[in-house]
Amino acid sequence: MLQLTNLNVFYGESHILRNISLEVASGQVVCLMGRNGVGKTTLLKTIMGLLRPRSGQIRFEGAEIAAESPDRRTRRGLAYVPQGREIFPHLTVRENLRIGLEARRPSDNNGPEPSALEEVFALFPRLTTLLDRPGGVLSGGEQQQLAIGRALLSRPKLLLLDEPTEGLQPSIVNQIEEVIERFKAERRFAILLVEQYMEFAARLADTYVIMAKGAVVASGRTSELSEEQVKQHLVV
Ligand SMILES: Nc1ncnc2c1ncn2[C@@H]1O[C@H](COP(=O)(O)OP(=O)(O)O)[C@@H](O)[C@H]1O
Ligand SMILES: [Mg+2]
Repeated sequence: MLQLTNLNVFYGESHILRNISLEVASGQVVCLMGRNGVGKTTLLKTIMGLLRPRSGQIRFEGAEIAAESPDRRTRRGLAYVPQGREIFPHLTVRENLRIGLEARRPSDNNGPEPSALEEVFALFPRLTTLLDRPGGVLSGGEQQQLAIGRALLSRPKLLLLDEPTEGLQPSIVNQIEEVIERFKAERRFAILLVEQYMEFAARLADTYVIMAKGAVVASGRTSELSEEQVKQHLVV
């Protein structure tokens, strides 16, 4: 459903992404791995339309989307949970969620709004008790639940998740992992998950892509990820 071909991305004169090609199939969970600074976040931003590639193609469900706005890509079915969560700290949880509902694709507009919200509350019951709080006062784990919940309200076909467990306590990490596992079992949408930690990635993803210095250096089925590759490129 998503095909990247020979993407090159620059920050000013710095060549950050080098000839990146990769594919995500419908319903698949792909883990994008690699150490800090290799360009994982830059790649997700480029897929979402927050950065323009200097060259290369981004095809989503057959359409070339590299020149489209982030908004247009959201309506096509892309959703993005940025690294560091980036919820709106001064808006309440309810208002943050409303933004997710508004991003929904037009074809879904006749669906009843409350059911989408109820799904999010079923996944993250904690949010129901926090609806009138400003996002900024929530704990890191609660903010992550809100960020994922908000992304789900747009009914994505492909969810981009950038290090969703970074800086969270182990109990919260487990909770996030369970939610991603549930998504994977249902296969309602594909996930491109950025994750530095091998174990988490190996449990959740069907396939992996490893980056180093802005390029893809290895990829394959997660079940066949070798010790060699892990030692060379990843945090264990
Ligand atoms: N806004 C920016 N301006 C200039 N360089 C940046 C910017 N953001 C990231 N970079 C550089 O791009 C490279 C890739 O960063 P990033 O995509 O955040 O890596 P990762 O997510 O894999 O840790 C790094 O060398 C980083 O310093
Ligand atoms: Mg990053």
